[in-house]
Amino acid sequence: MKKLVLGLAAAAALSFAGGAQAQGYPTKPITMIVPFAAGGPTDIIARIVADNMSKTLGQQIVIENVAGAGGTTGITRAVTAAPDGYTIAMGHLGTFSAAPATYPGLKYDPINGMQTIGLAGGTPILIVARKNLEAPDLKAFVAAVKANPDKFNEAHAGLGSVSWTTCTLFKGILGTPKINAVAYRGTGPALNDLVSGQVDFMCDQIVSVAEQVRSNTIKAYAIASAERSPALPDVPTTKEAGLPDYQIEAWNGIAGPKGMPKEAVDKLVDALNKALNDEGTKKRLLDLGTVLPTAEERTPAGFAALIKRDADKLTPALSAAPKQ
Ligand code: MLT
Repeated sequence: MKKLVLGLAAAAALSFAGGAQAQGYPTKPITMIVPFAAGGPTDIIARIVADNMSKTLGQQIVIENVAGAGGTTGITRAVTAAPDGYTIAMGHLGTFSAAPATYPGLKYDPINGMQTIGLAGGTPILIVARKNLEAPDLKAFVAAVKANPDKFNEAHAGLGSVSWTTCTLFKGILGTPKINAVAYRGTGPALNDLVSGQVDFMCDQIVSVAEQVRSNTIKAYAIASAERSPALPDVPTTKEAGLPDYQIEAWNGIAGPKGMPKEAVDKLVDALNKALNDEGTKKRLLDLGTVLPTAEERTPAGFAALIKRDADKLTPALSAAPKQ
């Protein structure tokens, strides 16, 4: 009889533990895959946001950099992981909206095959160059590139990355689609080579270049947004600088595998929202030029709509672009 009572107690304890676990997400650290090298925009935004989300969730979000193939290696790993809420990724305009048009054999479907969490931030694009490049402004730079495209080296973070995508659009407008290009595992390492003058220019998200522009280790020709950024108020817009057709908004956001438990999705959405409302986190993001997402963009559906809108916009231009 005693044995039976103990047995029942143990069974009850086990079923309670199971229930508690299902209710208690997260019960262990969560991995957030950053599909580029450390020090680039995706890594910077992921670390700032994950830092605050970890506090809300009561479990650490551990950043894992899995670089390669313009970010598609890391995103493939994240969205094909077990859909248990313990593997998510920080992707962006490139990996979620540009990659399908760039990689015909892409192993994930950003529109129908993953669980969006929300947008972490808008990241305006700047055309930046090594500081001793002769051209003093965007008009002179454009004229020099058009006259001698083979004299310039562009740095990017791989086919389908934001830097590749946005510079592909830039070169399309100039009519110089083929320029020597050097691919890096992220624009963090690319920026190091721009600062040391080993490459000439790149198109990059504001968060990793703002500090370098402020300290004059590189020069910024223009920001490809409708308005100047409060983080870099001296940098003209492309419209002001004479290239009004070059307008593109990049962004970073979080997604995971399709089929994640609702509880995990809800808690991640809530933690992201709390991070974006936290004064300290907001300041860190705004100082780097991040544009805070709207309430709608912070939701899974709002973020999914943004991914689709930008995929529809980019696909015609990228499908036809040289893949270099
Ligand atoms: C990109 O070009 O896609 C990003 O800047 C890559 C990165 O975050 O390093």
